[in-house]
Amino acid sequence: MAHEMILVETQGRVGVITLNRPQALNALCDQLMTELGDALRTFDADPAVGAIVITGSQKAFAAGADIKEMKDRAYPGVYFDDFIGKRWETVLTIQKPVIAAVAGFALGGGCELAMMCDLILAADNAKFGQPEINLGIIPGAGGTQRLVRSIGKSKAMEMILTGRMMDAQEAERANLVCRIVPVADLVAEAVKMGEKIASLSAPSVAMAKEAVNVAYETTLREGVRFERRLFLSLFSTEDQKEGMAAFAEKRKPSFTNR
Ligand code: HXC
Repeated sequence: MAHEMILVETQGRVGVITLNRPQALNALCDQLMTELGDALRTFDADPAVGAIVITGSQKAFAAGADIKEMKDRAYPGVYFDDFIGKRWETVLTIQKPVIAAVAGFALGGGCELAMMCDLILAADNAKFGQPEINLGIIPGAGGTQRLVRSIGKSKAMEMILTGRMMDAQEAERANLVCRIVPVADLVAEAVKMGEKIASLSAPSVAMAKEAVNVAYETTLREGVRFERRLFLSLFSTEDQKEGMAAFAEKRKPSFTNR
C-alpha cells in the first residue's frame, strides 16, 4: 500500500512510523488511520523488526481526530461505517512493543492514540489534552478510560471536563509518560529504546508486553495467574536456556527468538 500521510522506515531493527500531515497538525483522518494500521501490521509481520516507534512532527504528534472530516457525520452512519472501530484499534493488536514518541500537541484522538501504544516517551515540548468537551463531544477512542487508569480520577476528570492541557513535566509527574527528553533527541532516544528491546528475546518481549497490558483489563488475582502461565511457558524456549546459561558463564547471551 502506498502511503501519503505517513513516512515509514526502519532504523536498525526498529520500525519508525512518522505521521506526516503537517498542514493539519497530523489530524487523524480515515486515510491516515488506515495507512497507520497497514504500516503497523507490516512491521509486526517482519521478523527483522523488534520494536515500533510512532512519532509525529516537532509541532504535533497529532492534534486529534480530523474535526473537518467528522463535523457533518451523523448517527447511525458513524455506528455502521466503523468510524472508530478496527481502524483505531489496530495498534492494540500488535504483538511487538509500540513506543509513542510525542513532541508538541497530543490532543483528543492524538492523546488516545499515544495511550493505546505500550508507552509514551515525551519531548520537553509535549502537550497532552482531551479537549473534546469544547466541541460538544467526549473522548471516543478510550480517553475517558485509559487516562483515568494512567493518571487517576481527579486529574483525568479535570482534563476531560475542562479541556485543560498538560505539559510534559506535569505528564511525567502524573506517570502518563515514562520519561522526558529534549525535543531534538526524541526520535533517536525512542529508537535507542527500541533497539534495546529488539536485542532481547522476542518471545519474552511479546509476553512481557502482553502481561503488562493485561493489568489494565483484569483483576489482580487473574492478572497474576495470567502472568504465571506466560512466565512458566517461557521455560520451553531456547532463549531461556541461553539467557540463564550466559549469566552463569559470565558472557553475553545470543538470543535466537526460539
Ligand atoms: C482538523 C485540524 C485539527 C483537527 C488542527 N487542524 N487540528 N484540522 N482536525 N483536529 C488544522 C487547523 O484547522 C489548521 O488548518 C491547521 O491544522 C493548523 O492549526 P491551527 O489551529 O492554525 O494551529 P495553532 O494555532 O498552532 O493551534 C494548534 C491547536 C489547534 C491548539 C492544536 O489547532 C486546535 O485546537 N486543534 C484542535 C484540537 C482538538 O480539538 N482536538 C480534538 C479533536 S476531536 P488551516 O486549514 O486553517 O490552516 C477528537 C475526537 C477523537 O480527537 C475521538 C475518537 C476518534
